[in-house]
Amino acid sequence: RKPYRIAVIAGDGIGKEVVPEGLRVLEMAAKKHGVAVHFDQFDFASWDYYEKHGEMMPEDWKEKIGKHDAIYFGAVGWPAKIPDHISLWGSLIKFRREFDQYVNLRPVRLMPGVPSPLANRKPGDIDFWVVRENTEGEYSSVGGRMFPGTEREFVIQETIMTRTGVDRILKFAFDLAQSRPKKHLTSATKSNGISITMPYWDERVEAMAKAYPKVKWDKYHIDILTANFVLHPDWFDVVVGSNLFGDILSDLGPACTGTIGIAPSGNINPEGNFPSVFEPVHGSAPDIAGQGIANPIGMIWSGAMMLEHLGEKPAAAAIVTAIERTLGERTLRTRDLGGNADTTACGKAVAEMVE
Ligand code: NAD
Ligand code: IPM
Ligand code: MN
Repeated sequence: RKPYRIAVIAGDGIGKEVVPEGLRVLEMAAKKHGVAVHFDQFDFASWDYYEKHGEMMPEDWKEKIGKHDAIYFGAVGWPAKIPDHISLWGSLIKFRREFDQYVNLRPVRLMPGVPSPLANRKPGDIDFWVVRENTEGEYSSVGGRMFPGTEREFVIQETIMTRTGVDRILKFAFDLAQSRPKKHLTSATKSNGISITMPYWDERVEAMAKAYPKVKWDKYHIDILTANFVLHPDWFDVVVGSNLFGDILSDLGPACTGTIGIAPSGNINPEGNFPSVFEPVHGSAPDIAGQGIANPIGMIWSGAMMLEHLGEKPAAAAIVTAIERTLGERTLRTRDLGGNADTTACGKAVAEMVE
């Protein structure tokens, strides 16, 4: 087969530090497993690019990266220089929407050798997926500001849930649950307080569940659900949520497994009409950027998710195993995990393990 073409965007802050480690490991896995991959690097979707060009991305960004097999993305955001809503809506959120990446898939897994901040939890106790709606819901940018600067000023922003949008994310989540041994799905709701959209979400969950008689499902309001992530992480298998609820749960979950620095994600267009974006859950971490101490595992694991998405299962599995072994068998740890290894040393250790 022709080499896969991957668009690489490092972005801002630690994105620039973890992407080279992700590529190091991807290249090794590709070499060992006979997968031909070609990487094209792009400098847009970053503050540096904005400073030079006055916009986050070139006008023809879709032509530049829209034909690639996937996009490997670091992180974007540099709030000291540019407001987040401008940088994010000018890049990452555009990818998600315009490439119709309606699934944001984020694993929550306690890895061997990584201490959980929750007492008495060992690998196997925490192992589930957050399936986050990624194109609408609370992130719908419909609304506005009236009478700006006056006492009558007000702002309004709508939550939009379309039947197509809700049903397709639920279908993805139920399919995933059905494919897993526990066959259990949990829906994040708040239909006691958010009285129109969330009852609608519940109604669609109930309707979808009828097509999956083998899947056991339940629902929790988001407030108690966050409590249960901490108290009973072993209850969960597949957790599906709206855009905002999924966002919150996919930082909380990885925090329960030790650090958000290891958590990966896929922004997926399941139909394959557009490239999917693979990126760590974390952001550009301005507080530690430039020091070479960021944990690269979230970026590296995102590379494994990308290979899996492309159908390269052995190469993907090799990376996940190498991450588990590196974390489990070696004393080498970045600072977020209580060690003092730097980003490069950690990336090299995983690459050697793959080798
Ligand atoms: P963040 O994830 O960047 O950082 C939160 C905390 O976690 C910080 O203390 C940081 O040092 C730590 N951290 C994050 N990743 C780490 C890693 N790999 N290793 C070690 N420690 C790590 O979240 P934030 O501070 O809320 O956001 C910073 C910027 O990133 C903002 O501009 C925000 O909008 C943006 N952001 C972007 C993305 C993305 O590109 N997908 C995601 C989240 C936040
Ligand atoms: C994430 C991030 C983004 C989101 C931000 C940076 C817009 O937090 O990928 O989880 O809210 O989706
Ligand atoms: Mn987030």
